[in-house]
Amino acid sequence: MQGHCYLCTNFFDMNILVIGSGGREHALCWKLSKSPRLGQLFAAPGNPGTSEIATNVDLDTNDHESLKAFLLGNKINIVVVGPEAPLVEGIHDNIASDTELSHVNVIGPKKEGAQLEGSKEFSKIFMQKHGIPTAKYQSFTAETVNEGEAFLETLNPPYVLKADGLAAGKGVLIINDLLTAKEELNEMLLQSKFGEASNTVVIEEFLAGLEFSVFALTDGKDYVILPEAKDYKRIGEGDTGLNTGGMGAISPVSFVDNKMMQKVEERIVKPTVEGLSKDGIEYKGFVFFGLIEVNGEPFVIEYNVRMGDPETEVVMPRLKSDLIKLLEAAGNGTLGEHTAEVDERYAVTAMAVSGGYPGSYDKNKKITGTEKVGKSIVFHAGTAIKDGDLVTSGGRVMAFTSYGNTKQEALNTTYESMRKVDFSGMYYRKDIGFDI
Ligand code: AMP
Ligand code: GLY
Repeated sequence: MQGHCYLCTNFFDMNILVIGSGGREHALCWKLSKSPRLGQLFAAPGNPGTSEIATNVDLDTNDHESLKAFLLGNKINIVVVGPEAPLVEGIHDNIASDTELSHVNVIGPKKEGAQLEGSKEFSKIFMQKHGIPTAKYQSFTAETVNEGEAFLETLNPPYVLKADGLAAGKGVLIINDLLTAKEELNEMLLQSKFGEASNTVVIEEFLAGLEFSVFALTDGKDYVILPEAKDYKRIGEGDTGLNTGGMGAISPVSFVDNKMMQKVEERIVKPTVEGLSKDGIEYKGFVFFGLIEVNGEPFVIEYNVRMGDPETEVVMPRLKSDLIKLLEAAGNGTLGEHTAEVDERYAVTAMAVSGGYPGSYDKNKKITGTEKVGKSIVFHAGTAIKDGDLVTSGGRVMAFTSYGNTKQEALNTTYESMRKVDFSGMYYRKDIGFDI
């Protein structure tokens, strides 16, 4: 395995399980595989990309007994939870409350902390309580739908309606006219438009500005800030068309200068970590701050309790520090002794997606040419092996990450790599980073 040190004793080798199957998890495995502290690396379920640097395991991580047997059987020291759903469902709580697993570091918060992402209302109350800048809001339920309509009348368009719970990234509506906003509010609250997720709806003030993402790793009292990034969510060039899981990302973000990062740290990152601690919420893991700059001031649009996708595909390549050291420190509460060393270069990533995505699309399209890609890192997202061939298995298929001394240099390398790869219906945006 890459990075394994024969002279080191096995005592320090960390066995790690990464949960998830996308580009984010491939990028996390890629970074972990470079650490001299790595023992064995597993991905559950992983994808054909992770299988080149880790052992993919077919494991039902939702089933505590199966997970426990795996963790004990493979002497796992660290579990990195890629997506939010297992955290919101309590995977960390289940591991931590099992006395035989008390030695396992879980990267990702317990259920309570995961509410920062799992409940928009929880996160708004948290930010208000701790003085963290965010859009003004009120929340409503079926009983208060009339008050909700009245609140909409006090706001200026566009109207921002958010389902409180997890809704697979679809629970936020931005609506231009009042009548439609009222209709949608009714559908969310009274007709369960997003199932239980819209039993409560947060209505908030619309903020206009440029969005960016900041990531921190925290042990619950100290934190290290990772490179910032900007992602491109819309399917079409010029940020048009439907929202996707992410079409590309770039880091650094030119408008996020040192002064802005200082504001973000002082007004947002620090009070968030302190707020968690004051509220008695244990939190070990990544915090993803979805931010927006309005007239030079940062506001929180949302929290996520995990790394972003495809931001991870540029953040991990820019992180020079040993990720395993940082994760160990997050686990044992010594992050205060660490900082994140960052590569000065640009990293960009562009996502190749299946034709038709984010609507319906075909799968099982043979992917050719990846072996010709030399200068970019290919992170697999929705791929599979079928009859010995690499094929598409999802909407977002693979991310092409490149470094460059300038943004343009990095982009040129990425697009040169993408032209070498082909599958029927392959589409990608050629304008990542166009706005900065
Ligand atoms: P969220 O799931 O909360 O990140 O919202 C999804 C997207 O909706 C964000 O990435 C923003 O582009 C947009 N959005 C959410 N809240 C607001 C707001 N208050 N003002 C403007 N845009 C917003
Ligand atoms: N790139 C946005 C997300 O991961 O939610």
